[in-house]
Amino acid sequence: MSVSTGRISCLILFAVISIIVSPQAVFSGQAATIDELVSMYDIKKCVECHEDKYEEWKTSSMGNSVSDPRVLKGMRTFIRLALDKEQGLGRKDLKICLDCHVPQIKNAAPELILHIGDLILTAVEDEDVSRRESATKDLSKLNINCFVCHNMKSLGFGKQTQEGVIYGPEDVGNPHEEIGFRTIKSEFMTTSGLCAQCHHCPPDVAWKECPTIYTSYIEDFISKGHKETCQDCHMDGDRRSHKFYGPNDLDFLKSSITLAVNARPTKYVDIYTNDKLRAVALEVKLTNHAGHEIPHG
Ligand code: HEC
Ligand code: HEC
Ligand code: HEC
Ligand code: HEC
Ligand code: HEC
Repeated sequence: MSVSTGRISCLILFAVISIIVSPQAVFSGQAATIDELVSMYDIKKCVECHEDKYEEWKTSSMGNSVSDPRVLKGMRTFIRLALDKEQGLGRKDLKICLDCHVPQIKNAAPELILHIGDLILTAVEDEDVSRRESATKDLSKLNINCFVCHNMKSLGFGKQTQEGVIYGPEDVGNPHEEIGFRTIKSEFMTTSGLCAQCHHCPPDVAWKECPTIYTSYIEDFISKGHKETCQDCHMDGDRRSHKFYGPNDLDFLKSSITLAVNARPTKYVDIYTNDKLRAVALEVKLTNHAGHEIPHG
């Protein structure tokens, strides 16, 4: 979709509110560079034991939630048309977007946010290919990583998570002791509420003012008696795939609709020429199996 001003102002609205209700810092300190921020939320250790999850996540949309070309262009436009033009807004307010696209940003020093803005402009607008590529490469270090879902967002809106804890869906004992983390079960992680924290507005925005994919999930799917969660479909049930399947995956996309076509021969009478012509009557039945309206965005 194109980033319309309407969408942008809506995003500003709920991002501003989300800043107020977000839990307080779990990971502390202020990073002055991208590398400092990355090392604060370092996932190198996780890869040693969870390579499969890492490999899946790395190619997913949320593993590339800033450097995705659509996102870069959208943020560029937001900087040029909103932050640089609208009164009361400045480059520092890029944080509005980064709060969801890379929640670790809450530990960034103000100058780092300005630097990220500059990199986004370079990545999209610079005439020199190598400068564009180098900026995109730096930005690709920013993403929604393991700690976002397995700590920061694990308990829900406004709920404070504990430092030094990995939250997961089950009771698995203490497998992370040697890397200095406790492991705690969070049932919330298996609910659609986990995803709604970013795929919907904060709870204090009126339901009607926030039509998202989650709105349609509740109104057109859950309220009609279905039970599947976002995870059931997008993480392939018990496989718990971290590819977070989306429309980029052709098989997944195909699973969203069935098309049944029924054709039978018939006759068509042209009342002006008084001719009887051969014709085909088509019955087309298109069924949506996704848990919400499609396409979206
Ligand atoms: C409340 C969380 C949240 C905030 C704040 C947010 N985004 Fe997003 N953004 C998302 C989610 C979730 C998706 C994926 C949505 C989908 O594909 O349906 C997304 C997708 C996008 C996309 C790619 C797909 C599309 O719909 O075009 C762009 C571009 C984008 N965001 C730009 C921005 C910009 C610019 C801002 C700041 C004005 C921003 N976002 C703020 C959550 C957010
Ligand atoms: C967008 C959110 C999100 C991100 C990012 C994420 N996870 Fe998960 N992860 C989940 C959810 C949700 C579950 C539980 C799914 C369920 O049980 O329904 C889960 C489950 C797991 C499990 C248990 C799987 C099993 O089969 O028992 C492991 C291990 C895991 N994640 C590791 C990781 C690692 C490592 C990373 C980073 C490379 C990561 N996750 C990134 C959301 C996420
Ligand atoms: C020394 C090996 C090791 C390292 C390093 C490690 N894990 Fe694990 N992790 C395990 C084992 C073993 C389990 C339990 C069995 C399983 O689910 O794979 C587990 C389980 C999990 C679970 C699922 C818990 C549940 O409730 O089902 C998550 C989530 C998880 N790890 C995330 C992480 C993250 C994030 C990191 C990096 C900070 C990490 N792990 C680093 C070994 C490790
Ligand atoms: C921290 C915020 C956050 C959380 C939590 C989150 N998402 Fe996302 N999600 C995003 C953003 C931002 C994007 C857009 C990234 C992009 O366009 O590259 C996105 C993209 C996606 C996409 C790809 C959409 C497309 O158009 O290709 C899917 C599918 C998705 N998320 C599913 C989920 C599911 C399922 C959960 C819960 C298990 C979840 N997300 C939790 C922020 C989040
Ligand atoms: C019954 C299965 C099912 C459930 C439940 C479900 N989805 Fe989907 N979703 C799909 C399928 C299939 C697609 C691909 C169709 C498409 O994108 O046109 C999809 C597409 C998406 C997209 C990309 C939309 C686009 O067109 O850009 C996002 C984002 C998404 N889902 C998020 C969610 C979230 C968040 C939840 C939970 C609130 C959820 N989904 C629940 C099956 C499901």
